[in-house]
Amino acid sequence: MKGKILVAGGTGYIGSHTTVELQKAGYEVVIIDDLSNSNLEVLDGIEKITGVRPAFYKWDLKDLEGTRKILQEQPGIDGVILFAASKAVGESVKLPLKYYRNNLTTVINMLELMPEFNMKGIVFSSSCTVYGQPDPQYLPVTEEAPIKPALSPYGNTKQINEEIIQDTIHAGAPFKSIILRYFNPIGAHPSAEIGELPNGVPQNLVPYLTQTAMGIRKELSVFGDDYNTPDGSCIRDYINIVDLAKAHVIAMDRMLENKSDQKVEIFNLGTGHGVSVLELVRTFEKATGVKVPHKIVGRREGDIEKVWANPEKANKVLGWKAEVSLADTLESAWKWQLHLREKGIQ
Ligand code: WQD
Repeated sequence: MKGKILVAGGTGYIGSHTTVELQKAGYEVVIIDDLSNSNLEVLDGIEKITGVRPAFYKWDLKDLEGTRKILQEQPGIDGVILFAASKAVGESVKLPLKYYRNNLTTVINMLELMPEFNMKGIVFSSSCTVYGQPDPQYLPVTEEAPIKPALSPYGNTKQINEEIIQDTIHAGAPFKSIILRYFNPIGAHPSAEIGELPNGVPQNLVPYLTQTAMGIRKELSVFGDDYNTPDGSCIRDYINIVDLAKAHVIAMDRMLENKSDQKVEIFNLGTGHGVSVLELVRTFEKATGVKVPHKIVGRREGDIEKVWANPEKANKVLGWKAEVSLADTLESAWKWQLHLREKGIQ
């Protein structure tokens, strides 16, 4: 084995895809997840893809003592990838304390435990929301773009956690960190054995779109076409989930193989291309041949107008690049939706 990695939040959307790529790269994976926004069947999907079922503990990382006991049962963990967090932007506005307690305590506990178990690196799952709406001169967004006041408690927990990690390492903690700022992860593993499985009504565009295409939802509401963009709808940088997962393996390798003398590094993970909501709908319809009933409605509160990455730093320093096209990615999302119907899940 190349090493042993703890994936906190490993039955979630990004965590499960990252677990697959870690196992393919030769790592042993241990997952801790409280299953608050995922389910155990994800482990079956991972095993179907790689043939290896990761060790799994259903646990709330806010419980420090219990987490310590799990780590005592799993000696030799070299590093941790921390996905575990509440992540619904709208819910965070209604329930800020739930978000601050969950998202910050999880990180603080993990940072406290890492030296006790001689872990050498933490990859932290951050988000482009830390940039807010970048000013025009900062588009496409580099890692040097100003951090804007967060528009939601969810986004604020990402900013605060980045600072907690940096301050802890600056104070002399014996480990490194790579902070990955995702743009908009979409799609599913090409096997359709794992994918995005939102609880209840999807908040994010692509799962709502595929459920509409499937007839589960009546029509997709496009939140505004009066923005200052070519077709009036918002622009985002949609990145394939497997491409995103691979970046985590490269980041962990980089820390465990001491490829950098920096103790903390930050990377934007995006394609570098901005795509509007309406463009994405058209691309889905062309790629799958399936129509998506949709209507233009009012803007969604808190939405920013346009953001997309300048991924040059990740391309050059990590040697990582988003490879999968938007059309192929949307096709994978559709294949996953079909798989869910076959399984009678949605
Ligand atoms: C994308 C675009 C919507 C739904 C959020 C978080 C980010 C990350 C990804 C967690 C926007 C439009 C959406 C719909 C629509 N989450 N839309 N109709 O808001 O860019 O990012 O999710 O890590 O941190 O901030 O993603 O998919 O919700 O929206 O028109 O039914 O699609 O207005 O322009 P978002 P999204």
